[in-house]
Amino acid sequence: MTECLTPAELDRAAALLRDGSLVAFPTETVYGLGADATSDQAVAAIFHAKQRPVFNPLIVHVIDAVAAARLVRFDARADMLAARFWPGPLTLVLPRLADGPVSLLASAGLDSLALRVPAHPLPRALIRAVGRPLAAPSANRSGRISPTRAEHVLDELDGRIAAVLDGGACRVGVESTILDLTAARPILLRPGGVPVEELEAAIGPIDRAGEFDGAPRGPGMLPSHYAPSLPLRLDATTVRPDEALLAFGKRAPKGAKETRWLSRSGDLREAAANLFAALRALDRPDFTAIAVMPIPEHGLGVALNDRLRRAAAPRPG
Ligand code: TXA
Ligand code: MG
Repeated sequence: MTECLTPAELDRAAALLRDGSLVAFPTETVYGLGADATSDQAVAAIFHAKQRPVFNPLIVHVIDAVAAARLVRFDARADMLAARFWPGPLTLVLPRLADGPVSLLASAGLDSLALRVPAHPLPRALIRAVGRPLAAPSANRSGRISPTRAEHVLDELDGRIAAVLDGGACRVGVESTILDLTAARPILLRPGGVPVEELEAAIGPIDRAGEFDGAPRGPGMLPSHYAPSLPLRLDATTVRPDEALLAFGKRAPKGAKETRWLSRSGDLREAAANLFAALRALDRPDFTAIAVMPIPEHGLGVALNDRLRRAAAPRPG
């Protein structure tokens, strides 16, 4: 059985992590499935619990940019972005330093490493208490919707992990923005909690990763990902009586069996915070599909539309 721990039981969570066990914890974006990033066995256990393909590398969480600089090589762009956006929902992919302490399995054998400095007080306290970097992908089974509440983590992973630290609902609600800084031109690998426009304002133009430029760089780049069981119908302006409706803005079409609002006022931050919980709530066998109203493609809307398009993509097998 998976223990559900309160924030007051943080020391217990830290002890489990130090022992090599898996502990899920909240971050400002989504819940992460944490393990000691320096332990090959603990990192391998993450792949097993999530049923994640081992070619998909993990994000490693550290306390600050100084701790990050012990693991990867920083350049001027990384310095600037770290100063401006850390702690917060930005992940930087940078060249690994040789003989760093992080398990090679965490970066799936790549010579780069994805690093993030979370803003949420619980993972920060946990990283301090464990005293090691923590590898943490989103705490869902591979290919499924990311969890934004402790209950979602238990729905996905109960019995497969030692504990979940319950910190309530996640503030941002979509995963971190991932920026690859290993080449001369920065590449956006995943839109997320920091709008790419804000990154470009800091360091100049950023390339968008092509969907199919060879092997996918990670699961966030697989065309079908973040998938509920029901099919999604995007850009819906009408709704059928057998569909559930994911609504955005004041004017929702009438006639759905059930409607959930991402944001009635059309606020993209509120919509991002509600996205995964709303998809989970509407993913029920008494509907035939989830109709999703159009969402503007700017700011956090880019990350929202990215997740929705992947959730709507044809599934393998
Ligand atoms: O907000 C977040 O980023 C959450 C919280 C828990 O921090 N974590 C998260 O992790 O979304 P995950 O594993 O679900 O997504 C990690 C993404 C994957 O798309 C993976 O391929 C990419 O990061 N990634 C990790 N290391 C990489 C690397 N060295 N090069 C390129 N992509 C990498
Ligand atoms: Mg994920």
